[in-house]
Amino acid sequence: MAQCSPPFHLSATPLGKNLMLRFLTAGESHGQALVAILEGVPAGLEIRREFIETRLAARQSGYGRGARMKIERDRAEFLSGVRDGRTLGTPIALLIPNKDWANWQKVMAPFKADAIAVEDRAVHRPRPGHADLAGALKFMHTDMRSVLERASARETAAKTAVGAIGEMLLLEFDISIVAHVVRIGGVAADTSRLSPKQMSRASEKSPVRCADTVAARKMMKAIDEAGSEGDTLGGIVEAIAFNVPAGLGSHAQHDRRLDARLAAAAMAVPAIKAVEIGEGVRLGQLRGSQAHDEIFYSKKKGGRSAGFYRKTNRAGGIEGGISNGENIVVKATMKPIPTLKKPLRSVSLKTKRPLTAAVERSDVCAVPAASVIVRAAVALEIANAMIEKFGGDSLTEMRRNFESYIDSMRKLR
Ligand SMILES: Cc1cc2nc3c(=O)[nH]c(=O)nc-3n(C[C@H](O)[C@H](O)[C@H](O)COP(=O)(O)O)c2cc1C
Repeated sequence: MAQCSPPFHLSATPLGKNLMLRFLTAGESHGQALVAILEGVPAGLEIRREFIETRLAARQSGYGRGARMKIERDRAEFLSGVRDGRTLGTPIALLIPNKDWANWQKVMAPFKADAIAVEDRAVHRPRPGHADLAGALKFMHTDMRSVLERASARETAAKTAVGAIGEMLLLEFDISIVAHVVRIGGVAADTSRLSPKQMSRASEKSPVRCADTVAARKMMKAIDEAGSEGDTLGGIVEAIAFNVPAGLGSHAQHDRRLDARLAAAAMAVPAIKAVEIGEGVRLGQLRGSQAHDEIFYSKKKGGRSAGFYRKTNRAGGIEGGISNGENIVVKATMKPIPTLKKPLRSVSLKTKRPLTAAVERSDVCAVPAASVIVRAAVALEIANAMIEKFGGDSLTEMRRNFESYIDSMRKLR
């Protein structure tokens, strides 16, 4: 008799798993709109539209971005989950219309697309470094537009909007996040002497979102030079979360480790190819005596780690997969943009003959924008860990749990 058991992948995802903060996005780069559903935000959180719009505008700006950024003026429309400016504790659905849709309807229409327009915009010359070829082989698409439309970083507008909601939740607990650019190509910034406030203010004002004004000028020059040679540039962004309580994440299981979760969240941003927590990369070159952050105690120090503190923060605020009360520092390396005006060698998907890769309208450098998206990703993951630890269906309940935990930590003997 035939067995009726469900396929393995269904039985391995029991009801109740992953019920903290979670989100999904949908939408093609030149489709009608992007949509996002964010679920797990407690009720009663005030949603400030200006806050979301500021983050969306930041993602669109930045020296080195292409012409498309001038067409779009992203606005998130709330479809559900928010009433009279506060969350309901129900799924939040957002829609970000694509302003360019009118020009792409014939190509991207779900039904009745115009065959000539579709063929006109078809992509048969895969770009090295993009999802074009791997996606075409995987999904058996003959027109690689069917891959690149979703692989495009346009999707990150939706992530930025939900990240802003995560950040608003964190701000309720006085946890703030700063993200800035620390390298573009061969130019590195030095922000070691800046306070968090100075770093935030200077990077917000900078066209490359870099707080070191001297380095910022050199970065813009490097972008101009690369652009004029038909080339592109990558770099490194840093996101720092301030005032995070000790105790988020856990050493107890691989998928509860906060460092692993933050690394996955940052790596999920397109073109991010390496993630470092604290001084992670440099630690491999040091002896233990130089690498770890010694522990001190002062009654006067912040309650978020019960008075324990460090004079250095090489661990980037996480030990054993658990936040230790120091600032959480995540650095993410972005590779250079794959679409080149001076295209690389490739092979036609149709004819299998050598040719040069396709050229789409493209950015020369999107590292400043990546800093905004990595900030959103880090905010969402820390918000997720906060909800996991302090739970509650309402913000009031979550706040009570939080304060009670801080109090208990202080009394620990
Ligand atoms: C904000 C941002 C903007 C981007 N702009 C472009 C672009 O204009 N052209 C391009 O080819 N890739 C761009 N990318 C990179 C691609 O989205 C990415 O390299 C591609 O999806 C392949 O994914 P992978 O690099 O993670 O392997 C951008 C990435 C980000 C984060």
